[in-house]
Amino acid sequence: PLPRPFTVPLPVPAVARPTAAGHYEVTQRAARIEILPGLTTEVWGYAGTFPGPTFDLRRGGDATIRVRNELTVPTSTHLHGGVNPPDSDGYPTDLVVPAGHPHGHDHGHGGHAAVIHQGAKDYRYPLEQRAATLWYHDHRMDFTAPQVWRGLAGFALVRDEEEDALPLPGGERELPLMICDRAFEEDGSFRYPGRHDPDFMEGVEGDVILVNGAPWPVAEVSATRHRLRLLNASNARRFRLRLDPGGRFVQIGSDGGLLAAPVTHDTITMAPGERFDVVVDFSAYPVGSTVTMVNTLAGGSASNVMRFVVARRAREDSAVPRALSRPPGRAPAVATRTFDFRRSESAWTINGQPYRPGVPLARPRLGTSEVWRLTSDFHHPVHLHLAHFQVLARNGRPPAATDAGWKDTVDVRPYEVVDVLARFDGYRGRYMMHCHNLEHEDMAMMADFDVI
Ligand code: C2O
Ligand code: CU
Repeated sequence: PLPRPFTVPLPVPAVARPTAAGHYEVTQRAARIEILPGLTTEVWGYAGTFPGPTFDLRRGGDATIRVRNELTVPTSTHLHGGVNPPDSDGYPTDLVVPAGHPHGHDHGHGGHAAVIHQGAKDYRYPLEQRAATLWYHDHRMDFTAPQVWRGLAGFALVRDEEEDALPLPGGERELPLMICDRAFEEDGSFRYPGRHDPDFMEGVEGDVILVNGAPWPVAEVSATRHRLRLLNASNARRFRLRLDPGGRFVQIGSDGGLLAAPVTHDTITMAPGERFDVVVDFSAYPVGSTVTMVNTLAGGSASNVMRFVVARRAREDSAVPRALSRPPGRAPAVATRTFDFRRSESAWTINGQPYRPGVPLARPRLGTSEVWRLTSDFHHPVHLHLAHFQVLARNGRPPAATDAGWKDTVDVRPYEVVDVLARFDGYRGRYMMHCHNLEHEDMAMMADFDVI
């Protein structure tokens, strides 16, 4: 029995408290929580919650997060959008195994040895990067999709002085919104197909839309501006978000942080992994009215996302300035490379290759920029670790308005050629790119690149 849409209150994930300055600990564990009213669902969550706690971090803050694994399976945690040192980047065979748990088949892949941490690992994040909406999630080799589906995902927000100086909505008027779909069995457990199920190949979708882990929730807001940090954390579902009865999303930031200037949209298309930092001005609606965020890419139950009730008037203390930030400029590319994302027989491949850990497909130089041309046969949200990029062109034409700013994930659509200009900054070492349709990722649509 699914709840009526817009009856469950919107939860806001708890903010993680440091154990000492710059140090955090979080335990991955199973827990039974109520997602569908009256039923319980076993989740695998960071801190036993879904979403996991929000890490509220500062640029340059040099955070260490100890991830303890009390599940029954190995994990690897990736801070998505983070400029992470290679040994803290959540490489798929850099595993934390539950203490005392056997981990036979995780020892290696095709001659490539896994790195095994017993019980816990300290991930170090220097955070030499701009304020941005990041998220973290499981990244275990071959099992990312089922493990994220069970709940291993949360927000990490990076803030900085440039952002602090802006009069943007904050406090209760800043809402991180993790949007994802799930399917449920009658007893409330998550439904996820087997690997050989025909539903697996294209990517798994569910008929229930969750925001911060609640089905089609409702939130009361004052008739003022609110900052919504939108994240599509679905395994495979794309959304085209629209406000009903009409309204504007004023986009202030993208995956990689604040835009130079706001961009206004009537709809926002979000592929898995993408973030859109937007401001919605609820003073445009009568007090007592409702504003529904809908998804125009689906019919039926997946066409609803969440609802806002404009509950009361309140003093407006925020604004969206016409100049937001000074993002780093583009540097000329020193190389151009092509990566073709395509299905071949029973795997999803990049340049005809299924993923082979330890075999890099590119060796960009630290401090340089390159044009990466991404071509595809299907919808593939392409994500680069470490390197942020700007979209230069789609099929040789100018990018879409929603492609603005520095990004780490781009929605590559069927038969498209998308050119991005990527900057390889931060660290030398082994990183990866992959399709963020998590079933495609688990079916080998992933490649290493080495920054040299
Ligand atoms: Cu959000 Cu390599 O992933
Ligand atoms: Cu894909």
